[in-house]
Amino acid sequence: MFIPENHNFESFDSLLWLATPTPHPKFDGAGYEELDYIKEAFDDNWLSTEGENIRVSEKLISEKIGVKYAVGLSCGTAALHLAMKIAGERLYGKSDPAKGALFGRRVFCSDMTFGATVNPVVYEGGTPVFIDTEYDTWNMDPIALEKAFEIYPEVKLIVVAHLYGTPGKIDKIREIADKHGALIVEDAAESLGAAYKGSSTGDVWRQTGAFGDVAVISFNGNKIITGSSGGMLLTDDEGAANKVRKWATQSREAALWYQHEELGYNYRMSNVIAGMIRGQIPWLEKHIEQKKDVWERYREGLKGLPVKMNPIDFEKSVPNYWLSCLLIDEDAMCKTVRGECEALYVPEHGKSCPTEILERLLEVKAQGRPIWKPMHMQSIYRMNGFVGREGDGRGRTNAYIKGGMVGKDGKALDVGMDIFHRGLCLPSDNKMNAEQQDRVIEVVRACFE
Ligand SMILES: Cc1ncc(COP(=O)(O)O)c(C=O)c1O
Repeated sequence: MFIPENHNFESFDSLLWLATPTPHPKFDGAGYEELDYIKEAFDDNWLSTEGENIRVSEKLISEKIGVKYAVGLSCGTAALHLAMKIAGERLYGKSDPAKGALFGRRVFCSDMTFGATVNPVVYEGGTPVFIDTEYDTWNMDPIALEKAFEIYPEVKLIVVAHLYGTPGKIDKIREIADKHGALIVEDAAESLGAAYKGSSTGDVWRQTGAFGDVAVISFNGNKIITGSSGGMLLTDDEGAANKVRKWATQSREAALWYQHEELGYNYRMSNVIAGMIRGQIPWLEKHIEQKKDVWERYREGLKGLPVKMNPIDFEKSVPNYWLSCLLIDEDAMCKTVRGECEALYVPEHGKSCPTEILERLLEVKAQGRPIWKPMHMQSIYRMNGFVGREGDGRGRTNAYIKGGMVGKDGKALDVGMDIFHRGLCLPSDNKMNAEQQDRVIEVVRACFE
């Protein structure tokens, strides 16, 4: 085990995870609250993709987010798939099932996000064009989005995520979408419970998931509340909600036998999973409170180091604080390179890098993560378009002319790549206590000695 000079860090007894599920034991110790609803599914024999747990969970979530319809699905990725399909058919008409509803169409997508945000564009035959990230929120840069419409004026769909539970500038993005007659698929998988206000909301707080023409959330095991898996599609459009329910249950027509006129999917939520989700929903605000405490303790504990926490615009947004992250100042970065699957760094006094911090955390059994690697840097999407705040983000350097990496403002032109290079996610479990977190903070501090 590597022990930093002058320190003898004690390892945690068991792994301190990045983010784990939080079931709620009953006061009398007789099992978990969530199990009552799961048991109900057994007692009623609704061990199926229909049942009371699904109905109640859908109702509670639609009320919480402020949309008319929430459709329970097997996971957030399935919800994103059907969101792309419904948006594609609305924009371009009925699709050839063998090709997909976005066949041959470009779609503007968040770049620094999890792959599940964008892969469903490809499921439907579309081509993602990635929009660079802004330093302000670590989400889609509205200036880059405007530039993208200059380059690709024909685009009619924008897929935007709220990374790590912090809302992006979604009202600005809505304004740009409306100006260009584009629809928005909003990926609120990581940001359930987060809110935003701006000119588009009349300065009233609105939950993320209520801004898109279609939106999705996820109940994956690492999310702020979980069903162990599961997701929902959110919309105000009754026709879209009904269509998604139908597609998700194998696209059965109203006949006695299995009659099909459209391509079907088996994407509905299980009533057992929905039992867990139903039991978790009342705890959403509590989990957010706990995650907020974690973020704030890091902010205090890391003061004085050459790092910043992931940014939050407190005037316009209330995040759900799903993950706490940090960004190392440029001049405090030691030399480091990352290949496709491995990373190297040269340790240096007073400096560090994400790889060093993550390695040292793991040495004491604490789990962090690199920042989600931007999509335009992923091998699978290497040939896709990428647009930054100064226009086309591909091929910006020239062997015969200096520059190209830095913008007119002196900051990195490829913001996603820069945040990936200098940033990392810290252990963010809502059940981590202050003493455990102090130990994590000490390890991070030691990296800069
Ligand atoms: C931003 C984002 N979008 C989509 C997904 C996919 O959700 P699911 O795992 O429920 O399919 C996830 C995470 O899992 C995510 O973080």
